[in-house]
Amino acid sequence: MRLIIHPDYTGVCRWVACYIAGRITRFAPTAAKPFVLGLPTGSTPLGIYHELISLYREGSLSFAHVITFNMDEYRGLKPDHPQSYNRFMWENFFSFIDIKRDNVNILNGMAADPARECAEYEERIQAAGGIELFLGGIGVDGHIAFNEPGSSLRSRTREKTLSLDTKRANARFFNQNPDAVPASALTVGVGTIMDAREVLLVVSGYNKARALQAVVEGGVSQMWTASCLQLHERALIVADEAATDELKVATVRYFKTIEARQY
Ligand code: GLP
Repeated sequence: MRLIIHPDYTGVCRWVACYIAGRITRFAPTAAKPFVLGLPTGSTPLGIYHELISLYREGSLSFAHVITFNMDEYRGLKPDHPQSYNRFMWENFFSFIDIKRDNVNILNGMAADPARECAEYEERIQAAGGIELFLGGIGVDGHIAFNEPGSSLRSRTREKTLSLDTKRANARFFNQNPDAVPASALTVGVGTIMDAREVLLVVSGYNKARALQAVVEGGVSQMWTASCLQLHERALIVADEAATDELKVATVRYFKTIEARQY
C-alpha cells in the first residue's frame, strides 16, 4: 500500500486528478478497449471532479472511451431526486465531460428487485472487462462505498442497511435530519472493489483521521472495511495532513520518506 500525503485538500485533488488522467491517457482507451473507472460520491471527490473537468476543457483528457461504474446509490430515491447519487454524478461531473451516456453505470435505487439489480451490476462490470481503477472515499466509520462495519470482506454488490454513524454524517444533505436519510443503499461489495486492478482511496479532513489510522495502522478488519486495501496488490491512499492527525509520527515519516525516494 502506498500512502501519499499532501498539505491540503487542494493538493490532494490536483494530484489525484493528474494521476487518473495519466492512467487513462497511458491506457490509450478505444471503443474496443475502454478504460473502466469506478467512482464514488460524497464531498471528498468533488474537488477531483472539478480538476478532471478542467483537464477535459484544456483538451488534455477525454472520457470518450471511458466506462464508469458508481459505487453505490440510496435505496428508494428516484434517479432525479436532489440527493440521489445519480443526480449528484450528472450535476457535478458527467454533464461537463465527453462521456457517453451509455457508458455510465449507476445502480438503480428504485429497482423492484434489488437483488437482481445488484447481480446484474456485477455482470455488467464483468462484461466491461473488470474495473481498471476504483476511486473511493471513506466514511467516518471506515466504510468504503456503503460497506458498513461488519460487512463481509468478500461481499458482492447488494443492499446494505446504513449505520447510525453514516446517517448522522449524511444528514447534512437531508435537512440535518438523520431519520430522513434512506435506511439502506445498494452498494458494490468489498469483494467487488478488491477485484479492481487498482484501488485509490482519497481521505481528507480531521473527521476521517480515526478511520485512516485504523486502515493504515490497524489490522484488516470487518469493522473498518476500507482496511481491505491492505490485502490489495495495488492500493493507493492519498490523504491531506489533517486526515493523518491520528497516525503515529513515525508512520507519517515512514510513508513520506518512501514517497520522497520515488521521485
Ligand atoms: C458515503 C458514500 C461513500 C463516501 C462517504 C464519505 O457514505 N457512500 O462512498 O466515501 O460517504 O463521504 P464524504 O466524502 O462526503 O465524507
